[in-house]
Amino acid sequence: MWREVAGLRTRQAWRAGWLGALGVSVSVMLAACDAGSAQGGGAQAATAAQSVHPAMSGAQMQKVSADGAAAIPAGGQTRAQVYESVKKMTAVGKQLFFDPSLSLSGKLACASCHSPQHAFGPPNALSVQFGGQDMRQQGMRAAHDIKYLQKVPSFTEHYHDSDDEGDESVDAGPTGGLMWDGRVNSAHDQARMPLTSTFEMGSTPQKVAAAVKAAPYANQFRDAFGERVFDSDDATFKAVLQALEVFEETPELFYPYTSKYDAFLAGKAQLTKAELRGLQLFNDETKGNCASCHISQRALDGSAPAFSDFGLIALGVPRNRTLAVNHDPHFYDLGACGPERTDLKGQDEYCGIFRTPTLRNVALRKTFFHNGIYHSLEEVVRFYAERDTNPEKFYPVVKGKVQKFDDLPKKYWANLNTDPPFDRKPGDKPALDESEIRDVVAFLKTLTDGYQPEAPQQHADAHIVSSK
Ligand code: HEC
Ligand code: HEC
Repeated sequence: MWREVAGLRTRQAWRAGWLGALGVSVSVMLAACDAGSAQGGGAQAATAAQSVHPAMSGAQMQKVSADGAAAIPAGGQTRAQVYESVKKMTAVGKQLFFDPSLSLSGKLACASCHSPQHAFGPPNALSVQFGGQDMRQQGMRAAHDIKYLQKVPSFTEHYHDSDDEGDESVDAGPTGGLMWDGRVNSAHDQARMPLTSTFEMGSTPQKVAAAVKAAPYANQFRDAFGERVFDSDDATFKAVLQALEVFEETPELFYPYTSKYDAFLAGKAQLTKAELRGLQLFNDETKGNCASCHISQRALDGSAPAFSDFGLIALGVPRNRTLAVNHDPHFYDLGACGPERTDLKGQDEYCGIFRTPTLRNVALRKTFFHNGIYHSLEEVVRFYAERDTNPEKFYPVVKGKVQKFDDLPKKYWANLNTDPPFDRKPGDKPALDESEIRDVVAFLKTLTDGYQPEAPQQHADAHIVSSK
């Protein structure tokens, strides 16, 4: 799919993130209702749209006008009508997101694994969550937090970005897509997966449709999608996916940009000394070098940093031996080359790579990396700093020999990243010492949404330094 649309995409469409693909096929209706400005996506679009209708994103408007053909009479809708549709779908999408009756067990809602109190990420410290009919089926990957997804571009094997380097000729390699392996490009296609996965909600389109018809919000659902939405299970299921997608684009919930670091970039907050040291170590190419993948600066167009370049990268994260799938010594989760993702199967250069996650709200998580192996930010940052200088701290040692990269068969080791801080060998000084690791973690904690500049205790620990 991305192959077809890639050539058509404008810079603007790109920035509409995973809506980019739809951005090029936006209906006449949209042009007619003057939502063109909303095509910029992201924060700008949100702001532009908000100036007309508060709490409405360009992405949402676009989604409803481009995608809603089945439910909404095509063409001729005014901006106000599109706005009304978005509002209704968002309200219904929210109900669906929190409704456990959509799962076979009756116990699992999207929100069970994507909790609003945890930036729509996992509410607990389990490496992976449980689901299925008996709620005992263990997944194989950590649940993401699903904020800021509007920034994720569609998956491509060759990414050319003009925003960061100012040079579109650079091929940044495999980039984008949703899920750890980038295997799906839109939130509506994504939503199908947890709903039907045997180790998650374990349902079927028919059962989901039946649950919605029986739900207390059935009338509201019909009102949002039209009289005929219950005519077929297929139409109902499609509308469920669309409502979830539209809900996941609610700006104030899913991309508010209200962290302390955002306030700092706007010159409205000061970082503490530790946070500022952490930021410098995060950016310094010879120290953490974190910002080379987790972008910390505004893009050239001024939009807020996503803390990811969305590249798919092999870090050589240790095998998580507590996962049921890993009891089979021959099983490997190889990310983009499978087994969950199937289209790049057999292409060795894609084995072991996973999409770089955003670090916004990362401090609200209690489990890290695709297999949930670590449970504190200190452990994660230490892994970066000492993977190569002290591998025995992270990988099993058998008969005195460190089993480095124990979750990636040797034939794929050429795919492993060797940029700083991964450019060292045993005996070298780690890229960050323990106090520097603490500083980086202090900085990561400034990426949590909901910072309140006026709160007195925030003033108390704020220090001298500001961004201006
Ligand atoms: C049992 C736990 C569980 C439930 C329930 C669940 N998810 Fe997820 N979610 C996950 C996991 C695990 C991943 C990562 C999967 C992967 O990479 O293969 C994920 C990934 C996602 C992503 C992609 C995020 C990204 O950064 O690429 C989205 C979007 C998402 N889920 C939305 C939903 C929606 C909508 C629902 C309800 C229909 C839902 N999830 C239900 C566990 C869950
Ligand atoms: C070469 C690119 C690259 C660099 C450099 C890099 N990261 Fe990452 N980061 C990734 C990728 C890819 C993942 C996911 C890896 C996986 O799960 O297999 C990740 C995951 C993480 C996570 C876990 C997030 C989550 O939701 O589970 C944290 C925290 C993190 N990185 C912080 C840092 C810090 C701090 C630095 C600097 C010391 C850094 N990263 C440097 C690419 C990078």
